[in-house]
Amino acid sequence: MRRIGVLTSGGDAPGMNAAIRAVVRTALSQGAGVVGIERGFHGLIHGEFVELNSRSVADIIHRGGTILKSARSEAFKTPEGRQKAVENLKQAGISAMVVIGGDGSFRGAMALTAMGVPAVGVPATIDNDIACTDVSIGFDTAINTVIDGINKIRDTATSHERIYVVEVMGRESGFIALWAGLAGGAESILIPEIPYDLDAVYQRIVQGQQLGKNHSIIVVAEGVDGPPSGEAESVAMRVGRYIRERGGFEVRVIILGHLQRGGNPTAYDRILASRLGHKAALLALQGIGGKMVGIVHDRIEAFDLQEAIEGHKAIDEEFYTLAQTLSSL
Ligand code: F6P
Repeated sequence: MRRIGVLTSGGDAPGMNAAIRAVVRTALSQGAGVVGIERGFHGLIHGEFVELNSRSVADIIHRGGTILKSARSEAFKTPEGRQKAVENLKQAGISAMVVIGGDGSFRGAMALTAMGVPAVGVPATIDNDIACTDVSIGFDTAINTVIDGINKIRDTATSHERIYVVEVMGRESGFIALWAGLAGGAESILIPEIPYDLDAVYQRIVQGQQLGKNHSIIVVAEGVDGPPSGEAESVAMRVGRYIRERGGFEVRVIILGHLQRGGNPTAYDRILASRLGHKAALLALQGIGGKMVGIVHDRIEAFDLQEAIEGHKAIDEEFYTLAQTLSSL
C-alpha cells in the first residue's frame, strides 16, 4: 500500500486543517495510506508520526490552527538532522510528503526531494507573500479578521474623534495591510513595498479635518521598516508618537498581533485549502516532488518549488493608489 506523509510548518494559518483533511481523504480515496507528522520538520527528525484515517480529520474543516501542530526546526537545517528525517520516513514506509506552510517550509521540502523523498508544497501563510500563487491559505481569513477589528475601532474613532494607528502582521510584505486597509477605508496605509513619509501621513489627517473628517485610521504593516526585531518600539507606536507630537490630535495605537493568525477559516480559505490539498496529494501519490501547488486565475496548477521559493510576489500598486484616492475626499 502506498503511504504519503503530511506536515504543517512555520506560522499557523487558518485553513491548514482543511488542507490536511483534503490530503488525507484524497489519499484514502486513491487507496493509499496517510501518516501525519507532528510539529513539522522537528517531528520528522524525532519520529513524531501518527496514522491518519478518515475520522482523524473529521470536524476540522472549520477550525483554525493545525491539528498536526507547527514548530520551527534548526536541527533540520543540518545534514545530520535531514539524514535522520529521511531515515525515519523510509522506516515508516512513507514514499512522498505534502508540506503545508510558507517559503521556509518549502526549503525543507526541496531538501527532502533532493534526498529522494518527493515533497509537494501547499502555500499557507497569512502574509500571502508566496510567488506562483495568487493567494495563500489563511490570507482571506486574516484580512477579514483585521477588517472586523478596524470596524470596531472605527466606532470608537468616530465617537471620540480620534486618530487610530492599527498595526497588522506582514513581516516582509504589505498584503495584509494593503487589502485590509483598502477594505477598511484607511486614510493611510504604510507597507514595506512603498516608501512612506510621516509628514505626508500627518498632512492627510489635516486635510481630512478640513473636509470635516474628525477621525482617521492608519494601517501599518509591522515590517514597514524591515522585519520586526521584537525588541524595538513597534512601528505603529513610532507613527502614533510622531502624529501626537506634531500636535492637534488625540492618537491611539493598537497592535492586532497574533489574533490575526487564528479563527475559523472563511469559506474562501476552506475551498482553496481543499483544492490545493487535493492536488498536492495526487502529485505526491504519483511520486512527483519538487513542486508547489498554486492557484492562478482560479485554476489549480503545479509550479517548480524552486521558482516559488526564489520568486517575488509583488503587491498591486493600483490597490495603493485606489485606497489613497478613495480615502482622500
Ligand atoms: O509569517 C506569518 C507571521 O504571522 C508574520 O506575519 C509574523 O511576522 C510572524 O509570522 C510572527 O511569527 P511568530 O509566531 O514566531 O511570532
